[in-house]
Parts: sequence; structure tokens; C-alpha cells
Amino acid sequence: MKNRILIFDTTLRDGEQAAGTRLGPQEKLKIARQLERLGVDVMEVGFPASSPGDFEAVRAIGKEIHQPIVCALTRCRSEDIEIAGKALKGVSKSRIHTGLGVSDIHIESKLRKTRTEVLKMAAQSVKLAKKFAGEVEFYAEDAGRAEPGFLLEMVEAVIEAGAKIINIPDTTGYTMPEQFASLIMKIREEVPNISQAIISVHCHNDLGLAVANSLAGVKAGARQVECTINGVGERAGNASLEEIVMALKVRSDYFGFSTGIKTVELYRTSRLVSHLLGISVPPNKAIIGKNAFAHSSGIHVDGFLKDRKTYEIMKPEEVGVQQSDVVLTARSGRHALKHRLEELGYKLKGEKLSQVYERFITVADRKQEVFDEDLEAIVEDEITTTSETYILEYFNTVSGNKTIPTATVKLKKGNAVSQEAACGDGPVDAAYKAIDRITKLKAKLVDYSLQAVTGGKDALGEVHVKVAVGNRTVAGRGASTDIIEASVKAYVNAVNRLLAKRRRA
Ligand code: KIV
Ligand code: ZN
Repeated sequence: MKNRILIFDTTLRDGEQAAGTRLGPQEKLKIARQLERLGVDVMEVGFPASSPGDFEAVRAIGKEIHQPIVCALTRCRSEDIEIAGKALKGVSKSRIHTGLGVSDIHIESKLRKTRTEVLKMAAQSVKLAKKFAGEVEFYAEDAGRAEPGFLLEMVEAVIEAGAKIINIPDTTGYTMPEQFASLIMKIREEVPNISQAIISVHCHNDLGLAVANSLAGVKAGARQVECTINGVGERAGNASLEEIVMALKVRSDYFGFSTGIKTVELYRTSRLVSHLLGISVPPNKAIIGKNAFAHSSGIHVDGFLKDRKTYEIMKPEEVGVQQSDVVLTARSGRHALKHRLEELGYKLKGEKLSQVYERFITVADRKQEVFDEDLEAIVEDEITTTSETYILEYFNTVSGNKTIPTATVKLKKGNAVSQEAACGDGPVDAAYKAIDRITKLKAKLVDYSLQAVTGGKDALGEVHVKVAVGNRTVAGRGASTDIIEASVKAYVNAVNRLLAKRRRA
């Protein structure tokens, strides 16, 4: 326990204060269950006096959650504290988190009180809260901008009144890491009764420093960190739990601390919170963003494929992400392409690999990312010999509002030319039936989509199809200014890819 940092999660209280979000009691309960699985030490789950929904959420979570401490927020007001006490009644491990503003701007402009008055309110509230919960934490709101002498006086007074955890929030995200560390150090050195309490840090991200400030606080002696999943919270948010936890884990050589967090649950927790709050995670977000373990540029991919440690300081599995990702783009290089082709079952080298690489670069220049299905299409085009591929020689369709749609299609395979005609529900359906007659495949069209890839009357239409034969499904693509021709080409392309797959199998 000596080297343990306590993780106080406030996703369900401060996190839910993020603009435009609201969680109902059932949604909060779902997240609370996952936070328990994650192994947080304390979860702050609401502000019961603020609304009946929050009261209910605190009650419901308190009944069900037994491992972590369940905490409720109050202001330094007796009615808030009594309501929180009611919500926490019967909870196995409970905490009331009470407090008020301690900076002059908060005392004078928001609370309209004097320093002496707020000192008295704080001590009285702590004493009252002790009657309603297992333990009391006191928050000195806006401590980051408070006059340090007064802050020390306040901390001493609330410890004297019985607070066991002292929260030093940088409410407005104003401090710099070194300053914040000095403040924590000063409290440790100058508050006479500080050994009777744990110092907690609670940093906001207005200048993007919430995590840095929290970690500086830990270095200076804080033993509890308040944070939220995905860093959600008021304005620019709170310190992100996953970043704090992984910084402490990956750099345990530097900090010398551990947490009780089961890091393999981080990704799942992040997804759940993002989904229920409706706040998406940016791809470049540390630890749990889509790109956090994705390698793309040639130099990086080359190093990563030789030894993942060249560009990874932690394993994706540690945070619950299945595996690292090599994203193929125009910058990925030959090594990355060869590696992905091998994963897809193609062992190419020499001239063939160069041909595929040339095609790959052309596609990659047009697209942000080259997917496996693009690669399969390129490779099959390049390695399939013409004698094994159907080539569209000719097609003709007839359709109209008083005509039965019919199609004639001529395909060439090697030296053999075959022609068939068929009727259908429309010209595309008729053409596909004619192709089936030639290939003798019992193919089923499972998906068809058409999109314009250029603008105007002469737009190039691109058709994507998915065709299934037995338990095999393949995708095909065709482009033309004539959408029937694009459709026919896409189907022929799918048939060829299916035949190539069969041959490989
Ligand atoms: O940021 C803050 O100061 C808070 C307190 C209520 C703890 O969220
Ligand atoms: Zn806050």
C-alpha cells in the first residue's frame, strides 16, 4: 500500500458535467459496474442535491457496488450534506466529498463571503458530513489560484474538523506542473497536521496540462489522483484516467508507484463511456485512440516490424487493444506492403512484388488508407494469368417501362469466348443472370452499391458488389461513366476474384 496511488474516478460526476451530456441512473449503473471491474479505488457517482436523477443514481450504485468506495459530492451546505447522507445510506464503503472555493475570486465573487466565514463553513460541513458517511474528503476549489497562506490555513482547519482526504483542485487548469508540484510540497511541509490526511489532486485541462499537473502532484507527495475516463469533464475536461494510470505503469522506474487498475479493461471502459456519453474519442488520443497503436510511415513500420519496441513503449494488449496496426498508406513502403501481403496469404517477391507495389502506390495516392480488400483486388489482377480470368468483351441491355429487361453478355477466358442472354428484374439483374449462365456458378448477389466518384453529368460511377457462392463471399468493383457497364464490370471482377480464391485454396 505504501507505494500505491489511489485512483479516484469522477467520470460519473465531473465527467458527466461535460457540456451536452446527461446520463440516466441506469446508464450510470452500467458505467459504475465497469469501473468496478477496472479496479478504481473510489468512484464519485453524483451530486445528489442537484437533481432527483443524481440522487437515484447514487443510491442505485451504492446498493450494488461493494469493492470501490462510493462517493457523493456536496457544497458546504447542510441540506446538500443531508441529502447526500440519505443517498449513501446503507452503502458499504461511503465517502462525502464536500468543499468550497478558496481563491479570492471564488470567495468574493461567487460565495460573497469573507475568508473567515468560509473557514467556518468548511469546518462545520466536514463535521456534519462525518455523521453521514464512512469518511470525508474536502475539496479546496480553485486551490490553483488561491493565496497559498490561506489555502494552508484552510487545509489545517478541515483536517482538524475530521477530513481524511484533502483535495487540491486546479479547477481552472491554470497552474504549470512545477508550480503545482511546489504547492503540494508546501502543503506537505507546512501544514502541521497533514500526516493525518491523504493529499489528492484534481486537475482540469484548460491548458492541456491536466495529466502533467496531476503527475507532478504525485511526484510532490499526492497519493490520490482524481480523473475521468477519456478525460471527459467540464470545459476541456479532467485528467484522463488511462493516461495517468499508464504513465505510472510504463514509467514505474521514474515514479516508483503502482495502482490497482486492471489496465486490460481500459479500452473496453473507454468505449463504453464514449458510447453512453456520446463523446467520441479522437483517433490520436493517447492509450485508447484508434491510432494509438497504429504505424503508418515507412521508417516506423520498417522498425516496428523488426522489433515492436522500436516504436512502442507499451503493448496494446496491456490496455485491452487486441493488437498493433500497420496502416497502409502511400508512405508505408515496400516492407509494410510485403508483410501485409504475407498476412493475407500472398508470398510475393522480385518482379511480381514490384508490380503490385506500383499498383499499390497508385491506389494509395488516391485513398487515405489501403484496405485488405483493395490489396486483394490488386494482387489478384497482377498474379492471375489471363487464361484463368474472364474478360468482358461485349454486353448489351434492353430496358424500358414496357419491355422485359434483357441482357446479352460476351466473356472471354483464355482463347474461349462465351455468350449468353437472360431476362431479369432490370438490366443489371439480367446481365448478372447472363454472366451466371456463362460461368455456371450459383452466385448470389448479397450487396450492391453505386456511387458517383466524380461530379457532373459525365460522372464516373463506381459500383461495389459482394457476391457469395457457397460459404465464400467476395467483393468486386467496377467503374465507368455508364452505370450498367460499371455494374457488369464489378460482377465480373467478383467472379474472377472468387475463382482465384478457389484456386489458392
Ligand atoms: O474542479 C473542481 O474544483 C471540482 C470540485 C467540485 C472538486 O470539480
Ligand atoms: Zn473538477
